[in-house]
Amino acid sequence: MINKAEYTKRRKQLMQKIGSHGVAILPSASLACRNGDYNYPFRQNSDFYYLTGFEEPEAVAVLIPKHKNGEFILFNRPKNRDEEIWEGVRAGQEGARKEFGANLSYPMTELEKRLPELLEGRNEIHYTLGLNGAFDKILLDAINKIRGKIRAGLHSPISFIDITETVHEMRLIKSPAEIAIMRRAANISVDAHIRAMQACKPGINEFQLDAELQYEFQTQGARFPAYTSIVGSGGNSCILHYVNNNQIIRNGEVVLIDAGCEYQNYASDITRTFPANGKFSPEQRAIYDIVLKAQKAGIKKIRPGAPWPVVQEIMVKIITQGLLDLGLLKGNLRNLIENKAYFKFYMHKSGHWLGLDVHDVGRYKVNHKWRTFQPGMVLTVEPGIYISSDLPGVPKRWHNIGVRIEDDILVTTKGHEILTEMLPKEIDDIEALM
Ligand code: GLY
Ligand code: MN
Ligand code: MN
Repeated sequence: MINKAEYTKRRKQLMQKIGSHGVAILPSASLACRNGDYNYPFRQNSDFYYLTGFEEPEAVAVLIPKHKNGEFILFNRPKNRDEEIWEGVRAGQEGARKEFGANLSYPMTELEKRLPELLEGRNEIHYTLGLNGAFDKILLDAINKIRGKIRAGLHSPISFIDITETVHEMRLIKSPAEIAIMRRAANISVDAHIRAMQACKPGINEFQLDAELQYEFQTQGARFPAYTSIVGSGGNSCILHYVNNNQIIRNGEVVLIDAGCEYQNYASDITRTFPANGKFSPEQRAIYDIVLKAQKAGIKKIRPGAPWPVVQEIMVKIITQGLLDLGLLKGNLRNLIENKAYFKFYMHKSGHWLGLDVHDVGRYKVNHKWRTFQPGMVLTVEPGIYISSDLPGVPKRWHNIGVRIEDDILVTTKGHEILTEMLPKEIDDIEALM
């Protein structure tokens, strides 16, 4: 659990960054209709959650450095017994102050009335325009109200600054408490993958393995996956974000599972590929060996100061060489890399940041230069080779082999730690496990 003091510290840090002339505004996520009068399960906006720990919809956080009445103002739903009987308990205004550290809390219905007085006198509004049209309008109306009173001496804000830049840079470096949660998320996902691998046999449906994953997630306290689980057998292993998960798994096919739980709102993201019948065929083994070698080499490059692209560069080199050795690419290694000949087999990047979002926030380039790794960053390394049956010029025996191997890596002061290391990925270990 992230404690109250850490949320306070994050808000203080943010307020320090925006300065005493600024004001930050963050709306919560909204409920979204699934069908009829039912909603999707609510998931808080990650930036809002990062700064408040507050998990209810219909809320707005206003952070006003050095404001005379308090710096953290939360608009949220008031207590309402009738509605709470149907939908669950709410913090209400008292809870917002006592449990979540708000200096002031008002019912959401007072937002439009109170917003002008909170913005008045500030120069910069730190807010992300364009994500929430309804709230953009509320905010612009509030500014117009202040503009209408400048003859009375009121000062209207001058500029908008995108708050995501500031918050996302903070989110990029994980605190010890966040790392502890991500470790737990990783461990649960490791168990889920092991469970699915052991449950696999030819003749069952992909959705049965999806259910095994979900069972392990939920029984260990992770209610939802961090993204829709990918369980692709045979040709489906070559569809990068395959989510139908509804085909029969056949003898002789590979199964690619890309799945990770969300634990206390933090994501994990693991991929393993294994033979449906528990024994790799020579072709599956050959492709798997290349991807595994590439992944290990990519991970090895991760240490403080190393720039992002070194991971992809080494993996592209190993994958291209491997495909050359198998005769699936022909020509000269350097030319093949330069011309991106590998791209028809390996068409994505080496990975992404991981955190509250599976494709987590934070820039990959700063001032047009690739970012270098720093302790506290978490990222995935996930090379793959995908040979779909419609790939021109590839002999049939290689068809429908899609292999991806993905782990979650924490950058440490000394180098890195593989958070998902406990999940086997050596061929012998996978065969033994199955
Ligand atoms: N699970 C999505 C990804 O690996 O990026
Ligand atoms: Mn990933
Ligand atoms: Mn993944």
